[in-house]
Amino acid sequence: MLRNTLLVLAAILIISCVNDDVPNDDYDPAHDYFSFANTNQFVTRHLELNLDVDFSAEQLRGHVILHMEVLDSSATEIVLDTRAIAVEEVSFLAGDGTKIVADFRFGQSHAVLGTPLIIQVPANVSGQAEISVRLDYETSPDSTALQWLPPELTAGGKHPLMFSQSQAIHARSWVPLQDTPAVRITYDATIKTPSQLLAVMSANNDPLTPRRGEYQFEMPQPIPSYLLAIAVGNLYFAPLGKDTGVYTEPELLDASVYEFADTQEMLDIAEKQFGPYQWGRYDLLVLPPSFPYGGMENPRLSFITPSLLAGDRSLVSVVAHELAHSWSGNLVTNATWRDGWLNEGMTSYLEARLMEVIYDTDRVDEERVLGYQELLENFDRVPIDQQALAPRFDSGDPDNFQGTIHYHKGQLFLQFLENEFGREVFDLFLASYFDDFAFQTITTEAFMDYLDVELLQSQPGIVTREQLERWMYEPGLPDDAPVPTSSTLEGAAELAATWAMGETDVADSPVGQWSSQAMRYFLSSLPADLSPDRLAELDEALGLSKSRNAENARTWFILVAQQRYKPAYAQLQAFVNRHGRMRMVVPLYRALAENGQDRELAKSIFADARSKYHPITIAAVSRVLEFANE
Ligand code: BES
Ligand code: ZN
Repeated sequence: MLRNTLLVLAAILIISCVNDDVPNDDYDPAHDYFSFANTNQFVTRHLELNLDVDFSAEQLRGHVILHMEVLDSSATEIVLDTRAIAVEEVSFLAGDGTKIVADFRFGQSHAVLGTPLIIQVPANVSGQAEISVRLDYETSPDSTALQWLPPELTAGGKHPLMFSQSQAIHARSWVPLQDTPAVRITYDATIKTPSQLLAVMSANNDPLTPRRGEYQFEMPQPIPSYLLAIAVGNLYFAPLGKDTGVYTEPELLDASVYEFADTQEMLDIAEKQFGPYQWGRYDLLVLPPSFPYGGMENPRLSFITPSLLAGDRSLVSVVAHELAHSWSGNLVTNATWRDGWLNEGMTSYLEARLMEVIYDTDRVDEERVLGYQELLENFDRVPIDQQALAPRFDSGDPDNFQGTIHYHKGQLFLQFLENEFGREVFDLFLASYFDDFAFQTITTEAFMDYLDVELLQSQPGIVTREQLERWMYEPGLPDDAPVPTSSTLEGAAELAATWAMGETDVADSPVGQWSSQAMRYFLSSLPADLSPDRLAELDEALGLSKSRNAENARTWFILVAQQRYKPAYAQLQAFVNRHGRMRMVVPLYRALAENGQDRELAKSIFADARSKYHPITIAAVSRVLEFANE
């Protein structure tokens, strides 16, 4: 008996050790580990939103009706995703329109995933093929998707402004729903606002709509929940081209029209290269500085950071990127956040292809080199088991997964395929991919199978399935990965070396005519031990601390923090107060916290600036300050 028990124990021990060594035990790459929804039993097809926007309470209040298809008629409970949402009543609408109030309860809360809402399907409703569930609810000021800005944090300073950021799993904090990219929904919405403000959504915005405090929207194309978006503020519209335009506060309208003047051309070229644009209009919404991203590809209306307003169109690759998501991401969507490279890597590749046509190949080569440099830095920071393009990813937070590996390694992989098969063949492949998978989701594995049939087998002897799998499942880069180069940037790096050795003077060099990309490469190629005098000389000659170009200033202030160049600290602090985009502020806090002496200073600068930041940015900076390696 004892012997048998010991044998069983030993067997359990062996099995659990083996499981530790084999990461892909029961991991299901097609499963979304970041949603509670029972989408195998019910799927939402359409959503009706009816919400009041209450700035004084910082709440959305009203109801949503989820029109669902029943996949499993024996199922008796619907599980939805929520976070910080108060539900007043749940009811079902019977075929004849009568309301049947239903029981519901909240399940156990999870720090990242929120709280499942479990709805009991009433007996007289179950058995129907389609059901409509109405939830009367309100959001909380703690909604992780919504930021409520007081007038002083807007450009105009007179009106409040609110906006949403649903990707990756924040839609559940403003609408109770099945919050997974695996489900696509159409939606319509009625939004009530203070009468002088305008509401816009990721839907059919009408540039001529009268301002009357009530707005109707329709989104006829099915989208995943992370693309639900809303903003309300003192917003005005200006056209950029026949199907394109920009919404922003009146104070930023002229600057935005100038900066984004090439948007219509981008759209025209994108349609020629990737196939028809399926969404109607393409507009931009330029938000206040606290918007946490460079851009967000909300369909028909990309949300954009004002940090792109450099005055010289040098940073508009972000617009090309968000526009390209209209194909890679919005039309063909990653099945789960683990397949994010299919959204972001593919989009980064398309972004570069668009930029080549609109601007020139040299500029795009410069951007490719900067992306490659960022990728190598990421490999130093990201744990090895997350460096694959499609790693195991079943816990943690999709917002801070993998740095930018999905972007740059994904882009490089597609560049590799283009190089191997030739641009012409690869472009045909891409167009058929967008066509075949339009309005669907796709896993990495399904993509590889498609690639295998459509390219590897139809053009045999060029790339093997094993090569694909190396990119997908191995850390770092394969030996045959392309290495981007730019002669302009090589020149900038050379100048950085000769200047550092005292052999050249920046005033005698072509620095003044450099692109923003070359300037950044020059700065990041400088040695790590420059004296304060030499840094002062640079700042004086290149006007770095005062730069209007947020990317140049960012690179400079990282250097300032790393090298503890105190005379520029006040301007660094002003910069992290002026900007709230994560890319602009997080690396600066990290550089301060990791320079060996300024962690406390970083904390106090953050304490002072924090009320201006978005909840997502606050979470990211807090993490960096807590886990920085001193
Ligand atoms: N979809 C992303 C933003 C995003 C990613 C939000 C992950 C939430 C989770 C957007 O398209 C994006 O990639 N933005 C980049 C710009 C791009 C040019 C690299 C950004 O914000 O910097
Ligand atoms: Zn993107």
